[in-house]
Amino acid sequence: MTSNAPIGVFDSGLGGISVVRELRQQLPNERVIYFGDSANAPYGVKPTEEVRRLSFDIVDKFAKEGAKAVVIACNTASSAASKQLREDYSLPIVGMEPALKPACDRGDGKPQHVIVAATPLTLREKKFTELMDRFNATNVIYRQPCPDLVEIMEQGHIGDHDLVMTTLHRYFDDYDLSTIDSVVLGCTHFVFYRDYFRELLPESTAIIDGNEGTIHHLRDLLAANDALADDGAKGGVELRNSDTSPEMAERAERFLSE
Ligand code: DGL
Repeated sequence: MTSNAPIGVFDSGLGGISVVRELRQQLPNERVIYFGDSANAPYGVKPTEEVRRLSFDIVDKFAKEGAKAVVIACNTASSAASKQLREDYSLPIVGMEPALKPACDRGDGKPQHVIVAATPLTLREKKFTELMDRFNATNVIYRQPCPDLVEIMEQGHIGDHDLVMTTLHRYFDDYDLSTIDSVVLGCTHFVFYRDYFRELLPESTAIIDGNEGTIHHLRDLLAANDALADDGAKGGVELRNSDTSPEMAERAERFLSE
């Protein structure tokens, strides 16, 4: 059996478009409705309860529209709400977490020095603490909140090289970066900053994100539910945003097609 119903994907704003891009590559026949909640961004500096409420409102709309699955393309909303959402909704819900496992696995037994860059909410929540507990004994893991990177992107300043590099230096200059094996981009917005991180970090430091693994997981879940789209189905993306300004629509289109 197959299903040509849409997949609902959401984030606090534009960051989750990096996940949609991966989805388009791996599952080109799927129809996606993307909702960016830019009017309420950033989520990462809000109280957990508020992010949970915002996430429930979005998933509720997806469910009413007949989405066959939901991807929370946001580490922050996943930390705040994925468990509760799965308890309340019967449709498959794929969440995200910082890709700490692939970062630590790269060592093949050799202890890894890893910086996890994410939002303050993601890094303080139980979900991340539990993840960190699995790898902490044999690796050295640093949590680095980078909330301003979300604001810079939402406000349309990601092309401002000086602003971005100054911000990155503010967050990372206290580390001896030559000792760091990898930096995990634990926020979907940060994936769009990959070239800037490359400029900041020594060549030997890997930059890791969780987008590919998230879409693998989605594909497995859809397959297990007999809900993949037909091979011949015409996939596509409908972009929606709670900030309905033409500037935001233009930014979203640009990030999708970049
Ligand atoms: N893109 C989101 C994430 O992956 C968070 C951005 C925000 O703070 O709103 O965590």
